[in-house]
Amino acid sequence: MIVLESAVEFRAHCETLRQEGPLGLVPTMGFLHAGHVSLIDQARAQSRHVAVTIFVNPAQFGPREDLSRYPRDLQGDLAKCQAAGVAVAFAPTSNETLYPPGFQTYVEPGPLAAPLEGERRPGHFRGVCTVVAKLFTLSRADAAFFGEKDFQQLRVVQQMTTDLDLGTQIVPCPIVRESDGLAMSSRNAYLSADERKRAVSLSRGIGIAQALYATSERRPSFLIGAAMEPMRMADLRIDYVALADPNTLLPPETPQGNSRLLLAAFCGATRLIDNAPLEP
Ligand code: PAF
Repeated sequence: MIVLESAVEFRAHCETLRQEGPLGLVPTMGFLHAGHVSLIDQARAQSRHVAVTIFVNPAQFGPREDLSRYPRDLQGDLAKCQAAGVAVAFAPTSNETLYPPGFQTYVEPGPLAAPLEGERRPGHFRGVCTVVAKLFTLSRADAAFFGEKDFQQLRVVQQMTTDLDLGTQIVPCPIVRESDGLAMSSRNAYLSADERKRAVSLSRGIGIAQALYATSERRPSFLIGAAMEPMRMADLRIDYVALADPNTLLPPETPQGNSRLLLAAFCGATRLIDNAPLEP
């Protein structure tokens, strides 16, 4: 595995790899866990070579968010990439590698980025789209692998890739969960032992809503209320629980179609998100 810090070298190396067959890209912010490794595994299954990027992207953090304390473990990440069969890891150590002095052009996403996370985290998806567009442009990857854990991010990136003809196929990958149901996230590292126990209430809420949906319950307020209950019991501060059309991310127009249940809540100071489909 080759480890590169320079954007110019990353571009050149990806070019070489692409001559041997399809290149898969797994963009990450590091502190890799089993969810990231499953993205790499899926990328390997569909590509000749896999590139992983490790970059804590400052442009997607709000002024009061956790940029300065975001967990990092570059050596551990590189060991995981190596073990997973990654061909190249792009790990810039300076923000100026991707945002050099004088940088001024950002990708502004449309309405898909407005509700839910977009409403609570202004500018977040603008930062995500900008860095992802740059990583696609540098790597010219045939496919990029994104976890459904960040469902709105996945949808926003899919739309951007179509709108801007970026030429990289977006491959959605299922959420990987701990054995008790908690969705894997680098931010789970912030949780105390007590918070870690209470954090499982997000996936419990999803499970309850899915069970109700399976019994033909379709009233949004009922499904949302039921999903909230475990979080309330566990003393989490709910940010939102929403039912959304997976295409528009707006409330579903009819109760009959597929919809996505999306949740965000604070467990102590840590903001957690989760989601799942509600399907007939
Ligand atoms: O999902 C993430 O880890 C980040 O938002 C991404 C896609 C790597 C962009 O910084």
